[in-house]
Amino acid sequence: MKNIQAAITAVHGAVPDNILSNADLEKMVDTNDEWIISRTGIKERRIIEKGRTLSDLGADIVAGICEKRGISPEEIDMIVVGTITADHRFPSASNLICHKSGAKNAWGFDVSAACSGFLYTLVTGQQFILSGQCKKVIVIGADIMSSIVNYEDRNTCVIFGDGGGGVLLEPNDEGFGIVDSILKADGSGKEYLLQKLGGSAFPITKENVGSPEAYAFQEGRTVFKFAVTNMADVSAEIMEKNNLTGEDVDWLVPHQANLRIIDATANRMGLTKDKVMINISKYGNTTSGTIPLCLWEWEDKLKKGDNVVIAAFGGGFTWGSIYLKWAY
Ligand code: UT7
Repeated sequence: MKNIQAAITAVHGAVPDNILSNADLEKMVDTNDEWIISRTGIKERRIIEKGRTLSDLGADIVAGICEKRGISPEEIDMIVVGTITADHRFPSASNLICHKSGAKNAWGFDVSAACSGFLYTLVTGQQFILSGQCKKVIVIGADIMSSIVNYEDRNTCVIFGDGGGGVLLEPNDEGFGIVDSILKADGSGKEYLLQKLGGSAFPITKENVGSPEAYAFQEGRTVFKFAVTNMADVSAEIMEKNNLTGEDVDWLVPHQANLRIIDATANRMGLTKDKVMINISKYGNTTSGTIPLCLWEWEDKLKKGDNVVIAAFGGGFTWGSIYLKWAY
């Protein structure tokens, strides 16, 4: 019997049309274009239109994937969604996306792993392909960060944006697809990047409603130190484990949190800049959305057999790396 791998067979992305530029932010908080670009690499980010939700973006992603692959949404077995900004605490974004996209025969759930959401979700979807339980799994990474960002806090509002993307996973017996993954978690890092209020530990009450703690908080400098080390380390680890050199890797798809973190990871892997997918200047940090958005934008440059390494670090802390062989 041939070995089965879970391979990506289609990609689609979705970003809102509304642009929030650095110049716009200069009018909202004490910041400036030069600071934002030099510290992060971000020039602008997208903000969802009023009335549109995460599940609307998700339904657009599913429609795009189905159109590209020439399949009906009814053929999808499962939709797994990496997000921390689902429409509601419950039901899940997956549940609503299945409904809105017409994926009547699919089921699924959300995975909460902040900026590593797409990695965790991709490996989750992979398991359902490998077990044989599913033939077509859509894996989505998307976030509406504007719903949890405090636009009076310059530490966070310049960084985050809205958007996401998704991939279709199907079984492959020709040696293409996900080869290996390393996923990590360390909950002791929770205090440095979190949305404190609104969970069961600190529910929203009459007294705390409107408090800054209801929004995303980040101690940037500390997270930066952990991110820059761990994202580079885990990427080097997956290369070593699979006997890959910088020459062998065709593409690095890094989480887009900060250009300096991306550069450090690429340097550690021995990659030249032309092998690194970077679109942070246009979309900022869309949390779970950054990696599928890169795959979507680079889809026509990817070639069958390309060695692709995906890497992320995010709140939790969560981080990891995935090595795959592009399948089309
Ligand atoms: O995606 C999930 C994981 N997240 C990350 O990986 C993000 C990691 N962290 C970072 O990317 C960076 O820490 C930031 C981009 C968030 C911040 O950059 P930084 O170089 O670490 O700046 P900092 O927080 O150390 O602040 C430096 C200075 C401070 O002023 P003083 O104390 O030196 O006078 C800040 O108050 O910059 C000030 N500052 C700003 N100035 C203008 C902070 N935010 C801003 C701002 N505009 N928006």
